[in-house]
This record gives sequence, C-alpha cells and structure tokens, in this order.
Amino acid sequence: MSEKRSSFTGKIGFVLAAAGSAVGLGNIWRFPYLAAKYGGGIFLLVYIALAVTFGFALMVAEIAIGRKTQLSAIGAFKALDKRFSFVGVLASIVPMIILPYYAVIGGWVMKYIFGFASGNASAMAQSDYFSNYIGTVGEPLFWFALFIALTAVIVFCGVEKGVEKVSKFIMPLLVVLIVFIVIYTVCTTDGAWEGVIYYLKPDFSKLSGMTVVAALGQLFYSMSLAMGIMITYGSYMKKDISIEKSVHQIEIFDTGVAFLAGLMIIPAVFAFSGGDESALGQGPGLMFVTLPKIFDTMPAGNLIGAVFFVMVFFAALTSAISLMETVVSILCDKLTIGRKSCCLIVLAGALLLGIPSSLGYSAWSEFKIIGMQVLDFFDFISNSVLMPVVAFITCLFVGYFIKPKAVIDEIELTGEFKQKKFFSVTIRYIAPICILLILLSSVLSAFGVINI
Ligand code: PHE
Repeated sequence: MSEKRSSFTGKIGFVLAAAGSAVGLGNIWRFPYLAAKYGGGIFLLVYIALAVTFGFALMVAEIAIGRKTQLSAIGAFKALDKRFSFVGVLASIVPMIILPYYAVIGGWVMKYIFGFASGNASAMAQSDYFSNYIGTVGEPLFWFALFIALTAVIVFCGVEKGVEKVSKFIMPLLVVLIVFIVIYTVCTTDGAWEGVIYYLKPDFSKLSGMTVVAALGQLFYSMSLAMGIMITYGSYMKKDISIEKSVHQIEIFDTGVAFLAGLMIIPAVFAFSGGDESALGQGPGLMFVTLPKIFDTMPAGNLIGAVFFVMVFFAALTSAISLMETVVSILCDKLTIGRKSCCLIVLAGALLLGIPSSLGYSAWSEFKIIGMQVLDFFDFISNSVLMPVVAFITCLFVGYFIKPKAVIDEIELTGEFKQKKFFSVTIRYIAPICILLILLSSVLSAFGVINI
C-alpha cells in the first residue's frame, strides 16, 4: 500500500517552508558581495529583471511538476518522460556540492556569534581580522564541523519542524534589524550615502557579461532553483493553493531580504574604504569584514553584533537543513538502508568535502582549480555550470516535451493563470536561449578562452 504523502498545512505553511529554504546565506552573504563586485545598481537591476522573468517561470514550473507528479526530482522527471530521468540525477548533484561549502560559511557565522558574545567587537573590526581567522587551520574546521553536525542532528532526529517554528519568529526580526542597521549606517557614517547611490543607481558602463552570469547564478542559488528542491516542495503542496500567488510571495520575500542586505553592506563598504574598488571586489569575506566595523561604532555593538549573527545563523540553518534533507531523501530512495544511516553517510560525505573548502584559505591556499580557491570552485561548478544546465534542460522539457499546457493546467486548478502567455514564451524561447548564452560565456571565460 502506498503511503499517503504528507502535505503542508494551509497556504502559509507552504510559502513559509519554501521561503525558509530560499532565504539564507545566499541573500545575506552572497548577494551583497556579488552586487558590490559586479557594478552595484546595474547588478541589482539585472538581478530583478531575471527574477521576475526566469526566476518566476522556473519556480512555477518546478512547483507544478512536483505537485502534478507527487514525486521528488528524480522520480518526477522519470514519471513524466523516462528519457529525462538523468535531469533529476543531475539536479540532485547540486545540493551535494553546495552543502559542504555552505557549512563552511555557516561555521564562519558561528565563530562571529561567539566573537561578539565574548565582547571582541573592536578586535573583529580590524581589517585583517577575518583573513587572519580563515588563514588558520584548526578553528574554522572546528566551527564548520559543528555547523554540519548540528544540521545532521536536526535531520537525524527529525526535528526540522521545531527549527522552522523558531525561524518563523526570527526571520521577521532579522528584517527589522537589517533595516535598523541600514538607517544607522546611512545616518551616522560619512560617505555611506555614496554607497547607497552606487547600489541603487544603475551605471550602464559597468554592465559586463560577468554581471549577467553572476546575477543568473545568484538567482538559482537564492531561490533554491534548478536543484530539485522546489519540485520536492511542490509535491507536498495541497491542490487548492495557488501556485502563482505563492511564487510571487516567495519571490518578493527572497528578493526583499537580499535587497536589504545589500543596502546594509554596500554603503558601509563605501564609508569605511572611501569607495575604493578593491574593497568592493573583496568577494566572500565582504560581510564578515564590513559589518563588525559598523557594530564596533554602535553603542552595545557587541550585543547587536551577536544578535545579528544569531539570526543569520538561523537563516543559514533552515537552508542547510533543506539542502541536507534533499540529499538524504535521494539517498534513501536509491539505497535500501534506513534514513538514519543515510544521515550518517551524508554527514561523513559533507565533512570530507567541506574540509578542502575550509583549508583552501589556509593550509591549501596554494592549491587552485582553474585559478580558483576550492570554495570558489565548488560555488562556480554548482551555480555557474550545473544549475544553468539543469535550468536549460528543464525549460526544454517543459517547453517542448510535456508542453507548457501541462504546467498551466496544474496551475489553473485554483483559477486562471494570469501570466500564462508570458510563462509559455519565457519557458520556450527567452529562458533557454539566454541561459545557453550565459552558460557558454561563463564556462569559456573560466577557461580563459574569452574575456567577459
Ligand atoms: N537558497 C539558499 C540561500 O539563499 C541556499 C540554498 C540553496 C538552500 C539550495 C537550499 C537549497 O541561502
């Protein structure tokens, strides 16, 4: 007898669970550093344009596929068309690559919680504090292992729901705290206003191929697309809930948090560096270098810093749980061993794969893969290669094999799909062509064939 698939309760249940997966380090850590690096306002503009077109179309398609088949990625593609089973497999590789390095950054967040909680704000505000820290071997490895172990314990004990409940309270508070930090920085720090302008005013001379490549990769990452997660979430969604409306809500929330995080970090970078280009192009360390400087100038900065990083930690944890859950459930479906054993295998795998990402900044800093640090390489392979490939094939699959009508019918179970024309055109023509161009240019430029 087949087990009845459990489903999210009510409308808001689905939106909150999907938003919990979507909102994470991608919004708070990754988006601001990419926006700073790739042109500020122009990056924001390209990102929003991609989110309302590709992001919308893909998220709608993935959720509809999941709800239609009542299966998660591998099974869903297989059920709709046997020849496409491989897409599900490809999509499943993505969370396996992301999870380990996500936990490395989760570990950095934990270190910062304890740093502020023990009153170290002024030491942490020094420019080389962060690079010195990740340049050591033991401590970053310890925090990384703790973060991944914690995620595993939650998935192992099946207490995800409890964590989600806590994070439901914490997320809105995080938004409030971010707004507070934005206002504080802009009102009290000289030079911050130039950063606001850099972030909000698109400068078309800064538009490059890399702006578009980075924005597209970020879109998939941030909205948890092109890795089968939204298919799984769709499979748990009740039939009487509007997919179209839910997607709008998730998009607004996810993009809103990313937007605010950029507004919090970029003006601060300007204020503390005088708009120096090299400070803007810092990359993954940007949040960890910039925010302590702000907290250090605040009254009760240690407390506010600690609270802020605790909230970021929760956002990261809910996303890490959804990543690990996906990997565990794929493994459970494939192997005939229990869920708990699967958890242990995934934990061991993530530990092994995460170590090089962590050591890439210290003991193994000489070791580069196509010119990239290990963490950057994993990030590149998942965001700039595998996800666009999966997204491209998903578009072809929906556009030409099962046909947009299959998705539209699923969506119209709850009333008219207002953007259906737009959806069909995007999924059949605009998205696949653009994704293909973007994918080719990112791969060619990584190998140094072209310069974009
Ligand atoms: N979307 C999450 C974030 O922005 C990351 C993530 C990707 C989570 C894929 C789950 C799956 O941080």
